Amino acid sequence: MRGYSAPDSGRLTRLFSSSIGSKLLMALTGLGLLGFLLAHLTGNLLVFSGADAINEYAGWIQDHPKLIWAMRLGLIGIFVLHIALAMRLTNENKSARPTRYQIDATVKATFASRYMLMTGILVLAYVVYHLLHFTFHTIDTGSMGLKDAAGHPDVYSMMMASFTNPLVSLSYIVANLILGLHLWHGLGSAIQTMGWNNPAFRSVATPVLRALPILIAGGYIAIPVAIWTGVIS
Ligand code: HEM
Repeated sequence: MRGYSAPDSGRLTRLFSSSIGSKLLMALTGLGLLGFLLAHLTGNLLVFSGADAINEYAGWIQDHPKLIWAMRLGLIGIFVLHIALAMRLTNENKSARPTRYQIDATVKATFASRYMLMTGILVLAYVVYHLLHFTFHTIDTGSMGLKDAAGHPDVYSMMMASFTNPLVSLSYIVANLILGLHLWHGLGSAIQTMGWNNPAFRSVATPVLRALPILIAGGYIAIPVAIWTGVIS
């Protein structure tokens, strides 16, 4: 006999320990990271509006420590979960024993997951490099940690000093191209995972999720390129 059944937390656990559940959570954490990338890009593009605009924005961030710490902790949690799930899915793909008819699909899946793992590791290395550079100032490319006349962090001078150095600019251009490739492939899988049985969702989401990696990588790359070539000076 079927009686009352309390909300089943076991069902959720089972969903997320299944392969499709992991993929779903992977897609959701990826979309969370995408939200950060868009917000961060929007802030950074203020450099095109001049020193005051970007430094005021950096000052606003500094004046809202609680909000920023909540965002940082959320971001770290999402990032760690995304990496842990990536490792689990890669292991699952490796240990899947293909039958004769599944060989083609498995080879494709293994290639995709290896490719995502490689580009993912490079993006992780880039984030570490980037934090050591712009957040902790361990990598000193000049004008680090200065304040402007209004007392805001002088992010503008820091970016100018960094990206007039061709090596630093090149490292950011290459790293953001790799980020773009990771997003391109990752968002492609997210469309499949989240919309595999929903054609209406696919038709709306596909063009948006296809344009985003180009806009994001292009937007981030525009900053070092514009400073290096003197468009922003
Ligand atoms: C040209 C590209 C980029 C520029 C110019 C840039 C610039 C900056 C700057 C100036 C900061 C320090 C903000 C501050 O402490 O006041 C920062 C922090 C950060 N950036 Fe970027 N960024 C770029 C791309 C990226 C990308 C692609 C990612 C992720 C993949 C990223 C992730 C972060 C993170 C996680 C922080 C630390 C945020 C925090 O302190 O909470 N950045 N970035």
